[in-house]
Amino acid sequence: MARILITSAIPYINGIKHLGNLVGSQLPADLFARYSRARGHEVMFICATDEHGTPAELAAAKAGKPVEDYCAEMHDVQAEIARGFRLSFDHFGRSSSQRNHKLTQHFAGVLADNGLIREVAESQVYSIDDGRFLPDRYIEGTCPNCGYTSARGDQCDNCTKQLDPTDLINPHSTVSGSTNLEVRETKHLYLMQRSLRDKLEAWIDSKHDWPILTTSIAKKWLNDGDGLQDRGITRDLHWGIPVKRGDQPWPGMEGKVFYVWFDAPIEYIAGTAEWADANGLGDDAWERWWRTDKGASDVTYYQFMGKDNVPFHTLSFPATILGSGEPWKMVDYLKSFNYLNYDGGQFSTSRGRGVFMDQALSILPPDYWRWWLLSHAPESSDAEFTWENFQASVNKDLADVLGNLVSRVTKFAKSKFGDAIPAGGTFGAQETALIADLGARLRMYETLMAQMEVRKAAAELRGIWVVGNEYLQSAAPWSVVKTDPDQAQAMIRLALNLIRIYAIVSAPFIPDAAASMMTALNSTDWTWPSDVHAAIRALPAGHAFAVPENLFRKITDEERAEWQVKFAGVRT
Ligand code: MF3
Ligand code: ZN
Repeated sequence: MARILITSAIPYINGIKHLGNLVGSQLPADLFARYSRARGHEVMFICATDEHGTPAELAAAKAGKPVEDYCAEMHDVQAEIARGFRLSFDHFGRSSSQRNHKLTQHFAGVLADNGLIREVAESQVYSIDDGRFLPDRYIEGTCPNCGYTSARGDQCDNCTKQLDPTDLINPHSTVSGSTNLEVRETKHLYLMQRSLRDKLEAWIDSKHDWPILTTSIAKKWLNDGDGLQDRGITRDLHWGIPVKRGDQPWPGMEGKVFYVWFDAPIEYIAGTAEWADANGLGDDAWERWWRTDKGASDVTYYQFMGKDNVPFHTLSFPATILGSGEPWKMVDYLKSFNYLNYDGGQFSTSRGRGVFMDQALSILPPDYWRWWLLSHAPESSDAEFTWENFQASVNKDLADVLGNLVSRVTKFAKSKFGDAIPAGGTFGAQETALIADLGARLRMYETLMAQMEVRKAAAELRGIWVVGNEYLQSAAPWSVVKTDPDQAQAMIRLALNLIRIYAIVSAPFIPDAAASMMTALNSTDWTWPSDVHAAIRALPAGHAFAVPENLFRKITDEERAEWQVKFAGVRT
């Protein structure tokens, strides 16, 4: 039994996430957590909401709520939707927790003690009417290069020129529209990442088994252009973690907060501390996951995220940890994903284009989405959601292959042999061949799951369902029963046990269907079928079972057409 720490990139608090966000971090992390638990490992699976930063402040203002209230409400909304998708976090924390305040201030303090923080004087645009400094992208004006009138302070979307807000002609605040702007002097803390470059490079180079996507992004940021830059870790905002040096005030930094990207990954640790608090446990309970001097050296730590998050997890967060000089557990394996596109374009939160998590659950149960998303996870390249493909996968894989097998076998068994597993006959050549094939496929499935090859694992699982169907097709107990009822009983005894094996191995992908299958088979024994010969005989003759409700319904062409229109865009 191993100890496995799993974190998913923590979703921003503002707004409900779309399916592209879900498949890029939380869902595959959940798959791996469920699989690891099923294999008997001790798992700690942490996620949280990422609550600080300007977008959260503005969303709260738009909702007419104090930002604390807005975040508390949105956290509950996201937690509820996560439950709806059966995301099995051990804790779903909040980056605004007191635990994260303390830890973030602690890290900043030790980084300063280690000489890795310097103060930088900067000029920034201050909006007098908004009463705040404005991040570059909240300032718009006319592009000096191409004349585009909605160029942002960081970049012109029309000609792609990188801009400085002071380059803009007729600049205004996008928060209020005000043109009453001025440039003010301000001071910020910078983490001296450049001086950690060699340590970071050595650490990344030691990770021989990381996916290419992960290492190529890390290397690019390490080596491109000027290489790794020192990074501002504070902001002039109200909402955030107050800048302190450990538990001491930081002279000159009054009224400032840490930058959201500095405190967010620290929430992985803080979230585990919140888990301990929520369960009435002491500090040692979370420290044994995170402190290598307190038991975490035998933990294997896996992170899941979209590719845009990779630089922060391969460079910035490791810089925080390495710079601290303290014995914190660092990531062992970083699984990153490409993007999921939507029906010929991109998912867009701002334009409301695509399917959002709450909408998805309002039209179909979680297993349908989990199956499609995971079996099409954007691993080697970007992937695309289309309604045709979704309909085809659900109807074929789930309804025709798995659902049909379960209903056919249980109904036939009940009508011919009653409410208990029949005792007659023995396994013959076909059964022996199936068991051997199944065993080989299960070992392959385990290998792919351990490697987090999500798509390939889904394909292997589908293959495992298919061989059961093919066996039934050729064994044909419904014909055999007329001539050799004993042999038909043996076939059905095998098939009912096969359903239990399917439930156990499919549960990481489709937990609800798996639970229904186990309930129908009247079994609570979720032992992984490592020994397939034993597993195929686990439910003995005489064991009672029931016919479950239809596991999966088909998606009709009318529904597909309706949803295609409904989710084309414009959600506010
Ligand atoms: N909120 C970020 C996003 O959705 C992810 C933060 S991950 C963390 O892109 F490491 F910073 F926590
Ligand atoms: Zn331009």
